[in-house]
Amino acid sequence: MIRSIIIACAAFVPQALSQQSKYAEPSVPTGVPIPGNYSGALRPQVHFSPPKDFMNDPNGMFVDANGTYHLYYQYNPTSTTAGNQHWGHATSQDLYHWINQPIAIFPPNENSNIYSGSAIVDVNNTSGFFPHQNNGVVAIYTINTPTSQTQALSYSTDGGYTFQSYPGNPVLSDNSSQFRDPKVSWYAPTQQWVMVVSYAQALTIGFFTSDNLKEWQHVSNFSHHGLLGDQYECPNLVEIPMEGQTEPMYVLAVSINPGAPIGGSITQYFPGSFNGTVFTPVDGAARISDFGKDNYAGQFFYGIPGDQNQISLAWTSNWQYSQVVPTGPLEGWRSSMSLPRVNYLKNITRVGYDLVSAPYDLSAVTDATALIDKSMGNGSVDVSYSTVSSGALYFQINITNIPVVNITGTANFTFRSSRSGESLRAGYFLAPDSAFFIDRGNVKGFDNPFFTDKFSTSCPYNPSASSLSWSVEGVIDRSILEVFINGGESSATVSFFPEQALDTIEITSSGLNPGVRVNAAVYGLNSAWASLEDASGIVTGNITDYQA
Ligand SMILES: *[C@@H]1O[C@H](CO)[C@@H](O)[C@H](O)[C@H]1NC(C)=O
Ligand SMILES: *[C@@H]1O[C@H](CO)[C@@H](O)[C@H](O)[C@H]1NC(C)=O
Ligand SMILES: *[C@@H]1O[C@H](CO)[C@@H](O)[C@H](O)[C@H]1NC(C)=O
Ligand SMILES: *[C@@H]1O[C@H](CO)[C@@H](O)[C@H](O)[C@H]1NC(C)=O
Ligand SMILES: *[C@@H]1O[C@H](CO)[C@@H](O)[C@H](O)[C@H]1NC(C)=O
Ligand SMILES: *[C@@H]1O[C@H](CO)[C@@H](O)[C@H](O)[C@H]1NC(C)=O
Ligand SMILES: *[C@@H]1O[C@H](CO)[C@@H](O)[C@H](O)[C@H]1NC(C)=O
Ligand SMILES: *[C@@H]1O[C@H](CO)[C@@H](O)[C@H](O)[C@H]1NC(C)=O
Ligand SMILES: *[C@@H]1O[C@H](CO)[C@@H](O)[C@H](O)[C@H]1NC(C)=O
Ligand SMILES: *[C@@H]1O[C@H](CO)[C@@H](O)[C@H](O)[C@H]1NC(C)=O
Ligand SMILES: *[C@@H]1O[C@H](CO)[C@@H](O)[C@H](O)[C@H]1NC(C)=O
Ligand SMILES: *[C@@H]1O[C@H](CO)[C@@H](O)[C@H](O)[C@H]1NC(C)=O
Repeated sequence: MIRSIIIACAAFVPQALSQQSKYAEPSVPTGVPIPGNYSGALRPQVHFSPPKDFMNDPNGMFVDANGTYHLYYQYNPTSTTAGNQHWGHATSQDLYHWINQPIAIFPPNENSNIYSGSAIVDVNNTSGFFPHQNNGVVAIYTINTPTSQTQALSYSTDGGYTFQSYPGNPVLSDNSSQFRDPKVSWYAPTQQWVMVVSYAQALTIGFFTSDNLKEWQHVSNFSHHGLLGDQYECPNLVEIPMEGQTEPMYVLAVSINPGAPIGGSITQYFPGSFNGTVFTPVDGAARISDFGKDNYAGQFFYGIPGDQNQISLAWTSNWQYSQVVPTGPLEGWRSSMSLPRVNYLKNITRVGYDLVSAPYDLSAVTDATALIDKSMGNGSVDVSYSTVSSGALYFQINITNIPVVNITGTANFTFRSSRSGESLRAGYFLAPDSAFFIDRGNVKGFDNPFFTDKFSTSCPYNPSASSLSWSVEGVIDRSILEVFINGGESSATVSFFPEQALDTIEITSSGLNPGVRVNAAVYGLNSAWASLEDASGIVTGNITDYQA
């Protein structure tokens, strides 16, 4: 789902039968993973990024019956800019250690691209593709041509590693060049598949249902809600728990690009209810999933029951600058995914419904020994982490025992490069407004008019409490900072590109009321990629040997 160049009055070209075939450019390997060098100074070590070249949206995310997470992604294997889109593929048991697999889905012909979409496990063979198995995987995605966007299927009998395209493609057309990003889920009460798909420039999400994934009926539209921007993209509909309530609810997420309030791309979401055909939001509010600038096109894994916390990943970039960031010329790759996030709904002060987004269990990559473990009032702690070879840290700062009136003080954390003096800083003003900021303006490796420097959010206190508390936790990973406030009630994803590695963390607080405690802990993270390198330092990936 790239913003296509729109050719005025373009004629609709019906999809040819040749779509059954698969087109692989000679330079794009089939059947083998693409090797990657994950050692560059800007390469995230606990985040997923592609072995080389350009990646954008997460696609087709599902968890299989063995608990293996499958991530597909928008992938151009021939350039560090977008275009020539395929579905790359990686698998993981813990959402941090990823095995690069061969490219999963290729375009049907030279004039087409595979754009974003989703995948499901057809346990009941509703599609008829899977005569002898209950673990067949169907991918539902957009085929983009210069004049059309249509929805198509590919199916996999080997658990999602290799796919065949369905000869009856496309399965859904609208005579449009702006109709994309189908996300399909199973709605058990009506025993039907439900697709949400974007009529991008009509600012409308279409809802369709199907018994067999091949024939789709339009059942409703969700149009002009919340923030409009210039296009709606990558809708997601997911059943999700609401804290303190037994009945799960639904969230409809809609990505906007371009036209986000702080520029470029962003994701908004609507809590609500869904009855199999119509989604009804709880209120008229627009809620944004992230207050940074690098969190787009998030997708929820298929296969997690609706009464359990959902898990998502998003693309850690922004279309305003994703194709010009310096990782391309310096290291031959562009873009990574966010940390895996645990999501559920919660009633927070004033807002009523909030999508909590917290880091998924980091224990698979966290060092046992803390670099910093400190309890202080007003004070400061300053530690070099140049000994942490990944350059990646997990940190927590809890501020407790804050009085309910006459609150004062600030608490900051800064990551600095001892070599260049560059810094990435963030801080919390307890008063007057309980507000948090991030400033990437003193990181010097990338300059671009749209690469906004500063982000902030407010974090209102719970007025009924007898004393107040506040917390932030987060991960810094070479060129990505993610922060989670108050357990993930608000979160921010921020990319940054230092000239020299950041290697020092300083945490300071001052002006706090007497009795206020600042508890800080910082842990090194172990590279999830270094453990997969061969003797020459290259991550070769794997062809999972699948036994059906
Ligand atoms: C991997 O990239 C690093 C940094 O860009 C470079 O120094 C190293 O030589 C590369 N390794 C291989 C095997 O190409
Ligand atoms: C799956 O569907 C196909 C096509 O309808 C059918 O031939 C096959 O018998 C089905 N298999 C099972 C186990 O239901
Ligand atoms: C398809 O769209 C084109 C361009 O908007 C229009 O000229 C044509 O009449 C449409 N065809 C159908 C079958 O609606
Ligand atoms: C599969 O069939 C069972 C039994 O009819 C039903 O409860 C379940 O919802 C179906 N699930 C899917 C994904 O088709
Ligand atoms: C749904 O929205 C699309 C895009 O605006 C439009 O073409 C279609 O007619 C709408 N369907 C209905 C039933 O309103
Ligand atoms: C869902 O709600 C809509 C609007 O209230 C209604 O028209 C529709 O019939 C309902 N669908 C089902 C399956 O209950
Ligand atoms: C959220 O909590 C407030 C305060 O307890 C309450 O007034 C409000 O009704 C709750 N909202 C929801 C959506 O549960
Ligand atoms: C808060 O500040 C005001 C003005 O300085 C003062 O009069 C009041 O006593 C303070 N309240 C508390 C609980 O400290
Ligand atoms: C935190 O940063 C803000 C903004 O620069 C500054 O006003 C404040 O004094 C700093 N606080 C500490 C404890 O360094
Ligand atoms: C911060 O608070 C969380 C949640 O209560 C707790 O698990 C964590 O250990 C605390 N961290 C520190 C450094 O005190
Ligand atoms: C690659 O796959 C083989 C066979 O499935 C397995 O034994 C091996 O551990 C895998 N390697 C990695 C790095 O996952
Ligand atoms: C789960 O793993 C077993 C053993 O390796 C394998 O036979 C089976 O096909 C796998 N199932 C899925 C859904 O991947």
